[in-house]
Amino acid sequence: MRATIRNTLGVRTLLLAFAAATPAAAQDVTGLYLEWTRDPCTTMVVNWVDLYPDSPDVLYWRPAGGAEWKRAQATRRVIAPSVLQRRTVELKGLEPDARYEFAVAAEPAKDARPLSFRTMPTDLSQRPVRFVAGGDTMATRALFEDMNRRSTALEPDFVVLGGDLAYENGVQATRVVDWLEAWSRTSIAADRRVIPLVAAIGNHEVRGHYGGTPPTDAPYYYGLFSLPEGRAHRALDCGAYLSLVLLDSAHTFPIEGAQTEWLAGALAQRASQQFLFPVYHYPAWGTTKAPRGGTPLDAPVARAIRANWVPLFERHGISAAFEHDHHNFKRTHRIRAGQRDDEHGLLYLGDGAWGVHVRTVPPEGSAWWLARAEPRNHLWCVDLRADGTATIRAIDAAGEAFDVVELGAPRSAPVQDR
Ligand SMILES: [Fe+2]
Repeated sequence: MRATIRNTLGVRTLLLAFAAATPAAAQDVTGLYLEWTRDPCTTMVVNWVDLYPDSPDVLYWRPAGGAEWKRAQATRRVIAPSVLQRRTVELKGLEPDARYEFAVAAEPAKDARPLSFRTMPTDLSQRPVRFVAGGDTMATRALFEDMNRRSTALEPDFVVLGGDLAYENGVQATRVVDWLEAWSRTSIAADRRVIPLVAAIGNHEVRGHYGGTPPTDAPYYYGLFSLPEGRAHRALDCGAYLSLVLLDSAHTFPIEGAQTEWLAGALAQRASQQFLFPVYHYPAWGTTKAPRGGTPLDAPVARAIRANWVPLFERHGISAAFEHDHHNFKRTHRIRAGQRDDEHGLLYLGDGAWGVHVRTVPPEGSAWWLARAEPRNHLWCVDLRADGTATIRAIDAAGEAFDVVELGAPRSAPVQDR
């Protein structure tokens, strides 16, 4: 197995990507990815995955251009039921908006160009922030890598993926290996900066897709990502200017009940955050998967989201919600209280078509909630500015920015209980 994997094209390319480390250590790495569990301004979680329990557990890191490498001991866990070995280091106490160099497993050679990462600024007045959003990432490795390259070329601060990553269904570890290799080789910018990843859960992370028991029914999602509370729903805050609220659309946690109560508290606590984006897999305002005799809005999961989460989004105000799963491009009209409201409504952007085969959308004019929908692969590129304005562009696989949203205010106006 070891020899076979070493001989794949993917791993040979990965070797070049990790050329900063010595070949003996680097050649075994299946995947490398960065994420955050807490303050993205002062921390970074570095993960690397291989197949071998006895390979080195050490991360080398230093401020960019520093003379001396520091060593950090990684924790190792097995991503059961596979034999993938995940090593994790969380670096804390970092400088905001600063670049650090790093290498896994072995100290880089003196003349190597090491990989690097960058922390988030504490304030948008330090510099604007760009992130990329999308979901439903890997029907084929080629589709996944093509869109990853589009994303990485935009040099975002991070990428947030709204579920359905490797399509392993909680079972097929080989697809996880492929996904990790693909992500690792395509998430390194030209200047050697590795783009961090924030991942929500989708149905294809879960055995049975809905109503699964965490973590056993979604072993790769729960095994790959750092979830401090052991739950897929969680929030990530960058200073006072940006919050991401990641939700589990009934894959391993019910929508109603405890998750909705958590969401109510999370939104209330973040009332003064400047920008706030919910990210979840199944769309409240979809483009396909209509039940017989109904519309996409009639799907039970969509109904549950609109009954439980949407009133909270409306009460507290959001910048826009990212929805996925339907494998199309869509931008809704602004919607509030179940109808189009161009002045005070909320915006829902989707529908998860990063690296999958696209579907069909409702005929034009037949779906009142849709401002625009097309079966088109795309990512969303979000530019946030200190004055509270933002530009959100849909960019397709050919690099064309084919849809643009300008936010004149960072969040929809809060609404009192009706
Ligand atoms: Fe899905």
